[in-house]
Amino acid sequence: MKIILIGYMGSGKTTVGKQLAQSLHLPFKDLDMELESLEESSISDIFSERGEIYFRKKEGEILKKLLQNEEDFVLSTGGGTPCYGNAIDEMLAAPYTTVVFLKTPISALSNRLFLQRSTRPLIAHLDSEEALSEFIGIHLFERSTYYVKAHLIIDTAGKSIAQVSEEILQNISLK
Ligand code: S3P
Repeated sequence: MKIILIGYMGSGKTTVGKQLAQSLHLPFKDLDMELESLEESSISDIFSERGEIYFRKKEGEILKKLLQNEEDFVLSTGGGTPCYGNAIDEMLAAPYTTVVFLKTPISALSNRLFLQRSTRPLIAHLDSEEALSEFIGIHLFERSTYYVKAHLIIDTAGKSIAQVSEEILQNISLK
């Protein structure tokens, strides 16, 4: 079984993914971290030195490899992963795989992301929470068509990490 978490930056994919992996006794993988270790460089440096197109190409390649791998795991993707190439359709078509969208309100995203924005090249230049919130609103609207294709949509509003992972576990066992 593979569980793939998708959703906007700051939606909790990594924290929820780690918790889920622990509950299911599965290895946890993070696409950004896989890319950083392969390239021996940080996401910010990859964006600034090689450009976004290079980053998108590499993240798509790593995702493909992971999907072809017979190993079971919980994978947290980058916020843009499902929105480029055929990534979302490849995830949905992978055998024994459940794609979960963590749906988080704009206010919660901008709250969490404002202090962490320096490590995220797409939002690092935004210097007020209002500007960030406006950016997220437009970006999320553009990306939602990809996110909502997920097998399972979990509304994370007002829920703890434990509650979100529990809800995912319950829905997976009902399948
Ligand atoms: C991105 C999200 C980031 C990282 C990169 C681009 C995006 O991952 O992949 O900065 O396009 O939304 P997180 O969602 O883990 O922050």
